[in-house]
Amino acid sequence: MDTKTTLDLLADRAATPLDQAMSSPPSLYTDPAILDMEIKSIFEKEWHCPGLAADIPEPGDYVTFSIGEQQVFSMRQKDGSIRTFSNICRHRMMQLLEGRGNTKVVVCPYHAWTYSQDGSLRGAPYMDRSETFDRKKFCLPEIRTEIWNGWIYITLNADAPSTAELLAPINDLVAQFRMDRYVPCETQDHVWQTNWKLLTENFMEGYHLPVAHRATVGQWIGLDDTIFPPDVNPHFTWQTFTKDETAIYGRAAEACDYLEGKWRYTTIMPTVFPAHMYVLAPDHVWYLSLRPRGVGEVHVRFGVALAPERLDAFPNKQAALKDLITFFDHVNEEDRFVVEGIFTGAQGALAQAGPLSWLEREIHDFQKYLAGKLCSPQNATARVAAE
Ligand code: FES
Ligand SMILES: [Fe+2]
Repeated sequence: MDTKTTLDLLADRAATPLDQAMSSPPSLYTDPAILDMEIKSIFEKEWHCPGLAADIPEPGDYVTFSIGEQQVFSMRQKDGSIRTFSNICRHRMMQLLEGRGNTKVVVCPYHAWTYSQDGSLRGAPYMDRSETFDRKKFCLPEIRTEIWNGWIYITLNADAPSTAELLAPINDLVAQFRMDRYVPCETQDHVWQTNWKLLTENFMEGYHLPVAHRATVGQWIGLDDTIFPPDVNPHFTWQTFTKDETAIYGRAAEACDYLEGKWRYTTIMPTVFPAHMYVLAPDHVWYLSLRPRGVGEVHVRFGVALAPERLDAFPNKQAALKDLITFFDHVNEEDRFVVEGIFTGAQGALAQAGPLSWLEREIHDFQKYLAGKLCSPQNATARVAAE
């Protein structure tokens, strides 16, 4: 199917009422021209989440990430703020930092140009004979960083509205969990063999939980309790569901004195478009933050953090954390199996879109989001170029 037909079908799906909604055409997930448009119109424009602010609590703590082709790192400053810089050396473009860690200064591994934590160039060996060289002119470019309810959000877009504004409608819903106190327990980076949108869609919908996750979280969840937002929002979607008393994770610890009634066993699952999604429960949060790496590969950043009162309640913390990580590794494996399976399926000549359940309402919200970004009039030129 050509790119124009795929995008016309996406626009059509987005405009279809929910009770007649269909999943997106297979080519939406396999066409490299669509990915190019997504990088330009979505990833380079939107906010992305490299992790929790609590992941980097001390000055010099850093975490690396990327937006499209741009490598970046977020670093805790001496004044307690978090700032995000280009992770590319101003000398000859070597990548500066890898992974995560702590450093007093950022030293390029190529010729040892050295940057301060605020991105300014502090030293450049053997540049003393370069007459016009002025190290003040070679700071690392900085991009916007905001903290929202404990999350770090970053964007390349100088004109994007703030996260406080975009996410205001879900602020109270999320803030009641006081997630900014949650203690990070694990972060992992993986590459899965699927299209990034298949993983976003998979994470959003609860329909698969009792089946694909029957060995883990699926057995605790009552789908009939699922609640969706009253209105479709162009920046995020969410659902809530409850977990019964057999749930090992997902219910408030006894010492939790700020959640009442149903909220003590309710989980909220927001997706901040395009690629940050999380399960926020009274005792834990776990999240994925995605970055496409080609049409059929996606970088997956996974993290889990616990409410401090949950952590304190474990008689043996070390053993409890080991169990928790094993458990979530299992959940992730269950998801990897299905999203890689769908990507393989989407490439078959007989693959076709099918009807959506009411439990897949958020996939329909996501179609509206994608159509708004990829099928809008300003993208007409890009669509013609992509054909
Ligand atoms: S590329 Fe970084 S010091 Fe040369
Ligand atoms: Fe899942």
